[in-house]
Amino acid sequence: MLWPPNVNLSMPSKAHNTESLITPNMPSETEALSSTTAVLATPQMPAKDEEHGPAAEPEVTGLRRSLLHFYMLQIVRIWTHLPNALRTTLTGHAFGRHVHVTVSRLSDRRQYVATYFLRNRPEMELICRLLGDRPHGSTVNITVLACSKGAEVYSIAWAIRTARPDLHLRIHAIDIDEEIVDFAQKGVYSRTALLAVEKEAGRPDDLSHNTRRDQGASIFERMTAAELEEICEVKGEWATIRPWLREGITWLAGDAGDPEMARQLGPQDLVVANRFLCHMTPGPAESCLRNIARLVAPGGYLFVTGIDLDVRAKVARALHWQPVLELMQDVHEGDASITASWPMEYWAMEPFRNDLSGWQTRYASAFQISRTQ
Ligand SMILES: C[S@@+](CC[C@H](N)C(=O)[O-])C[C@H]1O[C@@H](n2cnc3c(N)ncnc32)[C@H](O)[C@@H]1O
Repeated sequence: MLWPPNVNLSMPSKAHNTESLITPNMPSETEALSSTTAVLATPQMPAKDEEHGPAAEPEVTGLRRSLLHFYMLQIVRIWTHLPNALRTTLTGHAFGRHVHVTVSRLSDRRQYVATYFLRNRPEMELICRLLGDRPHGSTVNITVLACSKGAEVYSIAWAIRTARPDLHLRIHAIDIDEEIVDFAQKGVYSRTALLAVEKEAGRPDDLSHNTRRDQGASIFERMTAAELEEICEVKGEWATIRPWLREGITWLAGDAGDPEMARQLGPQDLVVANRFLCHMTPGPAESCLRNIARLVAPGGYLFVTGIDLDVRAKVARALHWQPVLELMQDVHEGDASITASWPMEYWAMEPFRNDLSGWQTRYASAFQISRTQ
């Protein structure tokens, strides 16, 4: 249990809202053209959805914020003293959700580029199962949004190519941070232990720096030595992604909220949008998610986790997405770093339970999108 929660009493600074967060990462046109990484379109803020108009959350400021902070401390204290047997009851769970909503309202959200190879194994297993009925030798169009350092993209490519070597993969890997997309495309990671790197004198080179940027633990932490060897060629400090896993990937700098993206990419059989929408406040996250859904071909699948569950369930219901029930609990619980810190961290996800009304839509991380949105 983390204590205290990651909130502070100060007024919310503009530097922490989603708008000001994204703007510094936007590549200028000249930079974009000189880059080795293609730029999909000028990254821009998620568009406002005129039809559904997600209302911006009222900003909590001044006395109201101080009172809310005081209230939050009281309910967090109660939560920390609740025995586990009570926390896991329906009432305990509802109270935990209230704590989480309150903590989230006071948290300063920001984006991180931290990621892991083989981060959520059930998620990859489900992707392989859902593609299992594709005809031999067919082409599969996949978009991975918020691809960060590339670990998720290479992990997905490895899982599918191992299960179905006959499939022809056309993968678009997209992140709003142009520097991190360039790094991901290189596919070269430093294996130097985090602590050893910290002790090095001078400024580390970009590959070492980007490998460990924002990481609390090594990017390789969740893979075995044998898996590392299969995915990467390992030479001393460096692990380089093997050529058979690089094939068919187009790396792009772009904003998942860009309304032009659907037209530019064309319909996708599978869209993966994981672990970045939680770092947006609910209004922008909802707009962005609605835009992401437009990328999915009718009958295709959307994987979206690491998001405020109320936002995901609201959009899933409004757009009539079909929750994928297979491996649902395993995928929800497949990334321990995200469930362990609930309800104390805004980005954490609540425990799975199948005794709540609407639990399938609330806890599914994968959805079939039946019609064009
Ligand atoms: C925590 S990483 C998630 C990496 C990976 N998806 C995973 O699950 O391991 C979040 C990434 O989202 C990217 N990101 C944030 N907002 C974005 C946006 N609007 N469009 C595309 N990428 C975005 C950030 O640059 C960062 O690399």
